[in-house]
Amino acid sequence: MLILALESSCDETAVAIIRGCSDTNEVEVLANCVASQIDIHKVYGGVVPELASREHTKQLKPLLEMALEQAGVTLQDIDVFAGTAGPGLSSSLLIGHSAAKMLAVSSGKTYYAMNHMEGHLLSPFLGKSQPVEQAMGLVVSGGHTMLVDIVRVGQYHIFGQTVDDAAGEAFDKGARMLKLPYPGGPEIEKLAKLGNPQVYDFPRSMLHEKEEGKQHSFSFSGLKTSLYYTLQKEEQKHQREQKANHQAGESDQEFQLAPAVLNDICASFQQAIIDVLVEKTLAAAVKHKRSVVAISGGVACNKTLITQLQSRLSKRGIELLTADNALNTDNALMIAYAAWLRQQAGQESDSLEAGIYPRFSGF
Ligand code: KG4
Ligand code: ZN
Repeated sequence: MLILALESSCDETAVAIIRGCSDTNEVEVLANCVASQIDIHKVYGGVVPELASREHTKQLKPLLEMALEQAGVTLQDIDVFAGTAGPGLSSSLLIGHSAAKMLAVSSGKTYYAMNHMEGHLLSPFLGKSQPVEQAMGLVVSGGHTMLVDIVRVGQYHIFGQTVDDAAGEAFDKGARMLKLPYPGGPEIEKLAKLGNPQVYDFPRSMLHEKEEGKQHSFSFSGLKTSLYYTLQKEEQKHQREQKANHQAGESDQEFQLAPAVLNDICASFQQAIIDVLVEKTLAAAVKHKRSVVAISGGVACNKTLITQLQSRLSKRGIELLTADNALNTDNALMIAYAAWLRQQAGQESDSLEAGIYPRFSGF
């Protein structure tokens, strides 16, 4: 069974082809091609939707040809076409989703309208022997943060999600305030390695939330405000020191944090996010008696987070499943794999009239 997936929900155009074997349950990755637009959006400090969709239109055909060539198959050989239908930027989603639908229409093959979050959620299971059933997923991406109970493929129960910013968004917004490049997560992680996480006390919102229905929720928007005041204090301190040393004012020059201060802020800021993710994941897994936790999404590339989460979970006998970095950030392989699992679970082809859904409103 050959599955071809297209992903274009945000700023990565991606095409993947896999071969699934129903007898052995094994999945062979034949092609996994990603064209990242990070360099295009970097200068704007975030993704510009109009530029993203134009780039998807440009990249899709050469990427599709590259994937077919790498896989050594033709479009006629494909059994299932899958395209990300949501959530994401509408103008970006439309490109890959429409193309996948057209490929299915023209060949009369099965079509799956895929949920990007389901792709992330199931990605750590690719190539592993652990079943997805009864595992708990922590999805931490640029747009979402959620704890999900995987009852079985296609049946998910959201234990909790963020009430405001996502963890990746907190990294990106924090990095922007610190004048670091986009995406912010990898930049903050790099500098955090050189700093002390105990110097600044950033809030751990909702960490000990007791309100019924909110125990597993997250909130990261308070971090921005806290970082804003920390930066103001640092600037005032710098001005006082200058005055005391009778140095000439540099009022026309933009204030720059000393490298050591920046490193400590990055380490402390990152630790605040990690503490919340680790403690809430552990609490949910223990409360719901889950023995496997699967972490996915771009923030799962953060090695400090993985190390601390692994350490806390293993003390309670809970196994942590992780994916490679290339599978954590946006890609089409996770979409193809989720489509394969849906096919294995006996799900029928989606309607070819299925539309996109920019906002996540459940699985
Ligand atoms: O899953 P993803 O590629 O895209 C979405 O679906 O949103 O996640 C992108 C997010 C960005 O916010 C980025 O800053 C974050 O993942 N990220 C990281 C790291 N690498 C990427 N956050 C923390 N540490 C990292 N090493
Ligand atoms: Zn994503």
